[in-house]
Amino acid sequence: MSSIIILGIESSCDDTSAAVLKDGVLLSNVTASQSVHAAYGGVVPELASRAHQQNIIPVVHQALSDAGINKSDLSAIAFTRGPGLLGSLLVGTSFAKGFAQALDVPLIDVNHLQAHVMAHFISQGKAGEKFPDFPFLCLLVSGGNSQIIKVEAYDKMEVIGQTIDDAAGEAFDKCAKVMGLPYPGGPFIDRLAKTGNKDAFVFNKPQIPDYNYSFSGLKTSFLYLLRDKEKENAAFVSENINDLSASLQYTVVEVLMNKLRKAAKDLNIKHEALAGGVSANSALREAFQLHAAKYGWEIYIPPFEFTTDNAAMIAITGYFKYLNNDFCSLDKVPFARVTNLL
Ligand code: KG4
Repeated sequence: MSSIIILGIESSCDDTSAAVLKDGVLLSNVTASQSVHAAYGGVVPELASRAHQQNIIPVVHQALSDAGINKSDLSAIAFTRGPGLLGSLLVGTSFAKGFAQALDVPLIDVNHLQAHVMAHFISQGKAGEKFPDFPFLCLLVSGGNSQIIKVEAYDKMEVIGQTIDDAAGEAFDKCAKVMGLPYPGGPFIDRLAKTGNKDAFVFNKPQIPDYNYSFSGLKTSFLYLLRDKEKENAAFVSENINDLSASLQYTVVEVLMNKLRKAAKDLNIKHEALAGGVSANSALREAFQLHAAKYGWEIYIPPFEFTTDNAAMIAITGYFKYLNNDFCSLDKVPFARVTNLL
């Protein structure tokens, strides 16, 4: 049987990425991140679309060249169809359609969230690689999503809990912003928290039913604490930034883990995975390790480059869909919002 070579394309937010995967093994993964948003403290959708337009051809070219693959060798093109920013998605979708048509190869639409979960199955062709066993729960935490996903097969996933307002990464980023930290603030909070006292400040934890999350109340209570304390002491933030970061991070991680633990117990699922950009957080990783030791969990945390937005995860999802002859027609349009059917 000849090899299956998939080109994956990701453009859902502010990263333009292309990857080449051969028979499930990653050959290249190229990402152009957009620095233009830093000055605005968040992603500006119109600027993101324009940057995708500039980046997409060089990024695809680089991914093919790094992989040593000619475009005529490609078996199919997989692209992120949603959820994400519509203008951004349109760039990747339109490029994928045009390229697939020109090469006369099938087109595969990929759900971005399903792809974050599938990132656990990317092989780099190394010895001793470990992939999750089904069923498993995946805690997907990023700048745009906070979800618990029950995964029974690559094409059988159910969102059993999700945020009703802000995502975990958004909570980190917004609180970082009010402390005057650059965007995205999550990694700064992580760093500052290392020398802070997590018990210095107490924030209310949301009381939300089921496996759902809410982070907007935490963000508000953080904001109010700063506002009140700064009335008494204008240097409050700079004098307490490590303790503020540690207390905030502790609360976010507690909230995330409490629901995951509840779901794991209720559903009796011992395999737990972490995905999304916030999985870089050191306290969250540590909490996963502690839970593994305490509750006998088998845990899966992918390499960092596969947790943030990347095309390797689009390509691996595309590969599984290819094996299932699960292709899409040229009239498929991007979707901005998440549904609970992946
Ligand atoms: O998955 P991702 O790259 O893309 C979006 O969904 O936007 O996630 C980015 C998010 C940002 O909110 C960022 O602050 C957060 O992940 N993040 C972190 C850390 N590294 C990235 N949050 C906390 N601690 C970190 N070390």
